[in-house]
Amino acid sequence: MIRRYKGLEELSDAAADEFSRLVHDATATRGSCSVALAGGSTPRRLYEILATPARKGKVQWDRIDFFWGDERAVPADHPGSNFRMAKQALLDELAIRADHIHRIEAEREDRDVAALDYQREIARVLRAPSGGKPPAFDLVLLGMGADGHTASLFPNTEVLGERERWVVGLHVPGLDTERVTMTAPILNAARHLLFMVSGADKASALAAVLEGPHDPMRLPAQLIRPISGASTWFVDEAAAAKLTMRPLP
Ligand code: 6PG
Repeated sequence: MIRRYKGLEELSDAAADEFSRLVHDATATRGSCSVALAGGSTPRRLYEILATPARKGKVQWDRIDFFWGDERAVPADHPGSNFRMAKQALLDELAIRADHIHRIEAEREDRDVAALDYQREIARVLRAPSGGKPPAFDLVLLGMGADGHTASLFPNTEVLGERERWVVGLHVPGLDTERVTMTAPILNAARHLLFMVSGADKASALAAVLEGPHDPMRLPAQLIRPISGASTWFVDEAAAAKLTMRPLP
């Protein structure tokens, strides 16, 4: 499903409603909720809105385990850290228990070991045997780059073909940088995938991903389709400008 909004503010406000609804349903059904947060800049406004006094009292924060879909190879206090962004915009405002915050240690020298350790942490918290079938996150938040990447699944990288590991470390040639990312198998196992895409610079990629030929090596966001869950795209008018189908208002 594609839901269209005027701008980032309206998109983020609607995404906050959906976040709260999904967390409520998960905690009512299973007593807990596992969320993988998105990085980059788009989700910051969502996190800030969720942390406002008007909203923060409406979510059972102590039932949520927070993970990240990907992380840059930087320390936790680095300006480019996805963890730092979510910590500042959301988690610090809510006094979340430290044992419910599961940071990817992507700054470690051996990123393959860091990725394996993160997979083990996911397995422990979501009560699934590590190395077996990927467990289902209740909610995965994702952004999309102007090149059609999502998480750290970048075009023409080997990680796109990963079918076993849930988390991998990788070098991103296009950015000449290192990352740790969740892979398609675990992202697609999610109960709910919530994409947030804002801005004119995303319009071409969004139209190609949603309406163009299936070409996931070139457009990795096309790899991310829920196996049995649901996927919702929250997009603003600028990002939706090149879509032919009219998303739901
Ligand atoms: C990251 C994210 C990445 C992001 C897109 C969109 O680490 O940067 O995981 O996938 O969601 O690049 O980024 P913006 O929201 O900043 O446009």
